[in-house]
Amino acid sequence: FSAFLTDSFGRQHSYLRISLTERCNLRCQYCMPEEGVPLTPKADLLTTEEILTLARLFVKEGVNKIRLTGGEPLIRPDVVDIVAQLRRLEGLRTIGVTTNGINLARLLPQLQKAGLSAINISLDTLVPAKFEFIVRRKGNHPTGEHGWGTALMVPLSLGQVNCVVMRGLNEDELLDFVALTEGLPLDVRFIEYMPFDGNKWNFKKMVSYKEMLDTIRQQWPELERLPEEESSTAKAFRIPGFQGQISFITSMSEHFCGTCNRLRITADGNLKVCLFGNSEVSLRDHLRAGASEQELLRIIGAAVGRKKRQHAGMFNISQMKNRPMILIELFSMFQ
Ligand code: GTP
Ligand code: 5AD
Ligand code: SF4
Repeated sequence: FSAFLTDSFGRQHSYLRISLTERCNLRCQYCMPEEGVPLTPKADLLTTEEILTLARLFVKEGVNKIRLTGGEPLIRPDVVDIVAQLRRLEGLRTIGVTTNGINLARLLPQLQKAGLSAINISLDTLVPAKFEFIVRRKGNHPTGEHGWGTALMVPLSLGQVNCVVMRGLNEDELLDFVALTEGLPLDVRFIEYMPFDGNKWNFKKMVSYKEMLDTIRQQWPELERLPEEESSTAKAFRIPGFQGQISFITSMSEHFCGTCNRLRITADGNLKVCLFGNSEVSLRDHLRAGASEQELLRIIGAAVGRKKRQHAGMFNISQMKNRPMILIELFSMFQ
């Protein structure tokens, strides 16, 4: 495995997340402030060609999974083309997207044909009115005409649903989400609410993994733990006899930094080695200045080499200045 993608703790970074845009067609409360976020001038965003050049370089060095993120990746007009071009990269095993699902029903056939192999859909509530409240937009709810429901059932693999659990908002729906996995081959992933600038996080609104597990165990004592892949963000469980499974992403209460294998590239071309770190380096600037592959690799290797062992801990993160989630993969420097 490439020394450039191996950090000082021996973690090999084979998973690259690329943000395709900073824009989104929703305004989820936990992701961005009500007033939205300032947008980067288009000229500062990576072009499709630059995205592919960087992807090619990372795959050559050992990246075998790329996830396209955002903002909302499916609003980038050439997303299907990007997937198709990534598919040609030898050594790339998985191409995923994480999407709010709004454009999914329309794009899914083309995306599948282009070679998309994994889809994570954000879905925090099964109640339409609550959905509108959380995403601060009218319409588009999961049971509506846009057809997330249908999209979820596409047998790509085990469909993954991301559900950010917030006290007083959707924690009462835990068992309803669990019930979904009885007849559907879904992995419903309950995510601990994380603090970012402008999302009004506080400790009381976070529902911890332990608490969620207790609630579910009361109803389903037979819940069993499943073995998970190394570097997975999620701890997986199943109720015997159910088609699907449930998982917990415990970024706050039990971090999984020790097995982290992720790097991110922001929409404007910054390499970010940790979701909760502010240290970034502009690959775009070096690309545009005509850096050679070897020079780029040295720059990437130096950034990966500076990666910390783990994030600063739940309380420190909540105090730390970090941008809104939607901007995590966006701006060149954080303030
Ligand atoms: P898979 O590729 O299917 O494993 O999905 P994923 O969990 O890596 O990605 P997804 O985009 O679906 O993100 C879901 C949640 O995972 C996010 O809300 C975060 O809580 C968490 N997550 C994703 N990447 C990171 C990371 O680099 N560090 C930490 N701490 N959490 C992450
Ligand atoms: N806490 C936890 N998860 C979050 N996401 C966005 N903001 C937060 C937050 N504050 C999730 C979305 C999406 C994934 C990429 O990140 O629900 O599924
Ligand atoms: Fe958009 Fe996803 Fe953020 Fe919601 S969480 S506002 S869908 S980027």
